[in-house]
Amino acid sequence: MTVPEIRKIGVVGLGAMGAGIAQLAIEAGYHTVGREVADEFGERALERVAHFLQRKVDKGQLTGEAREAALARFSLTTELTDFADCDLVIEAIVEELDVKLALFSELESIVRPDTILATNTSALSVTEIASAVSMPERVVGMHFFNPAPLMPLVEIVRAELSSDEAVEAAYAVGERLGRRPIRCHDTPGFVVNRILIPLLNDCIRVLDEARISPEDLDTAMTAGAGWPMGPCMLVDLVGIDVHVHASEALYEKLREPRMAPPPRIVAMKNAGLLGRKSGRGFYAYD
Ligand code: 3HC
Repeated sequence: MTVPEIRKIGVVGLGAMGAGIAQLAIEAGYHTVGREVADEFGERALERVAHFLQRKVDKGQLTGEAREAALARFSLTTELTDFADCDLVIEAIVEELDVKLALFSELESIVRPDTILATNTSALSVTEIASAVSMPERVVGMHFFNPAPLMPLVEIVRAELSSDEAVEAAYAVGERLGRRPIRCHDTPGFVVNRILIPLLNDCIRVLDEARISPEDLDTAMTAGAGWPMGPCMLVDLVGIDVHVHASEALYEKLREPRMAPPPRIVAMKNAGLLGRKSGRGFYAYD
């Protein structure tokens, strides 16, 4: 497969992950178009990106001119057809396979034949997502970590039919975004989530087993194991719905009991306690 020089990036879905990826892309000099389903969601993402870039200016990490130039490279849309001239499109929408399949199929009808299509899925199979398109060699995983602008890793995931060229082009973009990319194959949870999801589930089980508070568990793992952030704070950051979904997806594929989401966190998800994004999870947020 011949891949284009990557100049323009499309980001589908501007939630926490998509907005973070778009921020990295505009800072790295890519013209970037971000798509949300409604204008107000796009505007909210733009405000978020503008805010974090301003904080970098305030702290002397970025010049005001560089901030303006980066923001000028960012355009918003609600139409997928605005991805027609993108060289790479990164999907960061809801973690539902059917929705992703429909999106990839539609995207393929819009973009050029050489456009690379990447998914930021946490725990779904990139190979299954790629089955929605007639040229699966163009599909790879680009799995960023939350918060994307702060976490250096990006997993570049090779699906069964990904071409070498698409994988290497995605790797090169990861480097240009200032990340530390690694290459891996399309196995459940890839590298980090295969380890982190069951570990976080163990942490949540310990809450009840040891009868401790989320605060004390977080203190235990930050002060006793050197984690930068405690597990309850981390699950709140990732999103309780995202964590439950990733756990279920891994459990479905690997059938290891530790992968299954503990009942306590499933109940939180069902109650709408989704962590930072909903204002309440293990902790309450303003
Ligand atoms: N986007 C952009 N910039 C951000 C940001 C965001 N979401 N959040 C914070 N920043 C900026 C802010 O401007 C902030 O500075 P300010 O407070 O002066 O404005 C600056 O970054 C530094 O923020 P913090 O002071 O909060 O930084 P810390 O030094 O405390 O580190 C951390 C924060 C990097 C998040 C650290 O706590 C950490 O490493 N936590 C663990 C995170 C982790 O493990 N993530 C992976 C989750 S798993 C995952 O994502 C996989 C998925 O598939 C489920």
